[in-house]
Order: sequence, then structure tokens, then C-alpha cells
Amino acid sequence: MSRRAVNPTRLLGDGGSIPFVGSVQCKARTSPLLSIGLIAVGAILLIGYCYSSSVSGSSDVKAVNKLDGGVSCTSEVQRALPFLKKSYGDSMHKVLHVGPDTCSVVSTFSKEEDTEAWGIEPYELDDVGANCMSLVHKGIVRVADIKFPLPYREKSFSLVIVSDALDYLSLRYLNITLPELARVSADGVVVFTGSPGQHRARGAEVSKFGRPAKLRSSSWWINYFVETSLEENEAATKKFEQASTKRSYNPSCQVFHLTSGH
Ligand SMILES: *[C@@H]1O[C@H](CO)[C@@H](O)[C@H](O)[C@H]1NC(C)=O
Repeated sequence: MSRRAVNPTRLLGDGGSIPFVGSVQCKARTSPLLSIGLIAVGAILLIGYCYSSSVSGSSDVKAVNKLDGGVSCTSEVQRALPFLKKSYGDSMHKVLHVGPDTCSVVSTFSKEEDTEAWGIEPYELDDVGANCMSLVHKGIVRVADIKFPLPYREKSFSLVIVSDALDYLSLRYLNITLPELARVSADGVVVFTGSPGQHRARGAEVSKFGRPAKLRSSSWWINYFVETSLEENEAATKKFEQASTKRSYNPSCQVFHLTSGH
């Protein structure tokens, strides 16, 4: 009998959002059968469980967003925009960005005159705003697993920019993905990767990306590019460095400029 004292609405906090709780509670009150009461308590616990797990899910998303605001290379891409324009000039007319939070990059880049921006979001799109959903509905931003061939033809974009995504790929997939990025680009690929020692929130990363980032050194990357016959775009590298030095811009991520190789 003492179980009755547990008020289901109190258990749930705002039970009002779940329409049938009211009726269950009503039956339990009028019926003397303990079994109905137990079923009601069971249902409430189940609802409470679902409710709390969905709440904890969204707090993970918040943690990831915080991570993005801090050391993410996707936000670095946005800061680098003026320098990329200086380095690539006309090659900025059709840009594909590949990486988490691509909606924000696409929105920033499309504000530029003469720049058309497209995006691939390699991870789940969770908790995104109406603006991002609209980009997805228009097909400007696609959600695609970059471990597989990209849904674009050869040289579909003048420039491909990738941030954060390669840090989460093992060598096996890197061998597939990087040549794919080169294939769909006409004038080059710009790679933004984390630097070794960069602090990242591991827990949030694993829940979003499936594994912690592998932050590889600059010499590792250069060696890898040579082994996989990806050539450095020397002209773009030089222009990017000159423009950065001139304005004392110091990117917090490693930036590599590669040719498309065709
Ligand atoms: C990836 O490519 C590199 C360079 O071609 C090669 O040495 C390495 O064995 C490949 N790794 C895997 C796991 O396929």
C-alpha cells in the first residue's frame, strides 16, 4: 500500500508531456488491485528511463559542441577563410568542405561573393538548427560515411577542404578517403588536422566519432603523402604562409595543401 504514496507525476517531473500518464494514475487510484498499480509503476519507470537516457544523450551533444568551439579544426577552417582566398583565388568558386559541423562552414563560405559551398557531414547530424536542416534538404550538405566512395563525380569541386575527419580514420580508411577527396577536386585538397598534444575531450569524441582522435605529427603526414603519391601544392602552400605571416595568423591546426594529381 505504501507504494501508492509514490506520485507518478512527481517521479516524472513534468508528467504532463506524456498523455497517458494521467489515465494510468487515475485507474491506479480507483482500483484496489495491486497488479494495476505495479504495472503503472513499471510503465512509469520505463518512461522515466527513456526520458533520462534521451536527456543524457543530448548532454553528450553539448559536450561535443563545446569541443568544437575549443580546439576543433572545423572552426579553424572558418578563421582561415581570408587566407585560403588569398592562396586559391578563383579556385574558391566551388568548394566542398568535409568534416563535422560542416553546416557552419558551408554557411560562412557561401556568404562570400563568387563562392559556392557544399558540405559532407561524416558523422550524425544531431541537434542541428533549421538552417542546417534546410541545407540538408536542398542536398547542399550530405551526410555520408567517408570510409566509402563519395557520391560525386570526378572534379566536381574546384577545391576540397577537410577538417577533423581524417584524425578519426585508421590507415586502412585513410588510404581510401584521401584519394577520394583528390578525385572529386579539380584544383587541390586542403587538409586541416589536429596537432599532437592538442587537448581534446576524449569522452565526447568517442561518443560522436566512435574513437578518439589520432593526432599525427607533421612529419608523419608529409611522409604519408609521399608514400601515397599525393603531391604538395607548393604554390598554394607558399601563398598561404605569406598571407598568414603578413597578418600574424597562426592556425591552431596543421594545414596541408595538396594537388589533386590530375
Ligand atoms: C596504406 O597505404 C600505405 C601507402 O601506400 C601503405 O604503405 C599501407 O600499407 C596501407 N595501409 C593499409 C592498412 O592499407
